[in-house]
Amino acid sequence: MDVFEAMRARHSVRKYLDKPIPADVLAELRTEVDTCNQEGNLHIQLVTDEPGAFDCAMAKYGSFSGVKNYFVLAGPDDDGLEERAGYYGERLVLLAQTLGLNTCWVGLTFSKKKAHIEVGPGEKLVMVISLGYGATQGTAHKDKPMEKLCRAEGGMPDWFRRGMEYAMLAPTAINQQKFCFTLEPDGKVKAEALKGPFSKVDLGIVKYHFELGAGPENFAWA
Ligand SMILES: Cc1cc2nc3c(=O)[nH]c(=O)nc-3n(C[C@H](O)[C@H](O)[C@H](O)COP(=O)(O)O)c2cc1C
Repeated sequence: MDVFEAMRARHSVRKYLDKPIPADVLAELRTEVDTCNQEGNLHIQLVTDEPGAFDCAMAKYGSFSGVKNYFVLAGPDDDGLEERAGYYGERLVLLAQTLGLNTCWVGLTFSKKKAHIEVGPGEKLVMVISLGYGATQGTAHKDKPMEKLCRAEGGMPDWFRRGMEYAMLAPTAINQQKFCFTLEPDGKVKAEALKGPFSKVDLGIVKYHFELGAGPENFAWA
C-alpha cells in the first residue's frame, strides 16, 4: 500500500486486537518519529505495551478497547505547535496505515493522568494517537461539499482539485472539516483553520493530505 492508498483506506479505528506489533515494524515507526521530531521541532513519543492511557471511563464511553500503543504528540509550546503536531502526526498515521496498522487521533477521550507522557520544560502535550491492529478497518466519514471547503475564483486546476480530494479524506476533530483552502490570484494556496475544537491540529493534518494530493511541485503555500 502506498501513501495515496493509505489516505483512501484510513479511517479511525477505536477497537484493537490483542496482537503485538513486530519489532521490525516498531523500528520503522521509531525511525520516522525521530525524523519528524527533527524536521518538525517536536517531541513525539511512541509508547508501546501500555494499557493505562485508555483505561478510563472517557475512553470506554468513546468505545475504545484494546489500546496498548499510542503516539504522544508534544513539543515546544509555541504558536505553531498544534499545526506542526497535526502535519507530522498524520505523516506517522499514514506510515502506520501502509504498515498494516490502524490509528485514531485522540484529543479528549484518554487519561492524561495515566498515559506515559514526557513533557520537557517549555513543552506542551497536544494529544495522542492510538495505534494497533484494528478489529475492523473503520468506515468512511461524511464530507461537506467541496465548494464549501475551498475557493478558486476563475476555475480549479486539476492539481488543486486533487489536493482538495485528498484533504477531504483527512481526519478532523468530530469530523468538523473546519478548514478552507483558497487559490490566490498569484497561484499560491492559502490554508486556514476556521473556529472549532482542535482546528489548528486539523489544519496541519489537512495540509499534509493536500500537499500529497496536489503534488508539492505544483504550488507554494501563501
Ligand atoms: C484533532 C483530532 C482530535 C480527535 N479527538 C478524538 C477523541 O478525543 N475521541 C475520539 O473518539 N475521536 C477523536 N478524533 C477522531 C475523529 O472523530 C475522526 O477523525 C472523525 O470523525 C473523522 O473520521 P475518520 O477519522 O474515520 O475519517 C479526533 C480527530 C482529530 C483529527
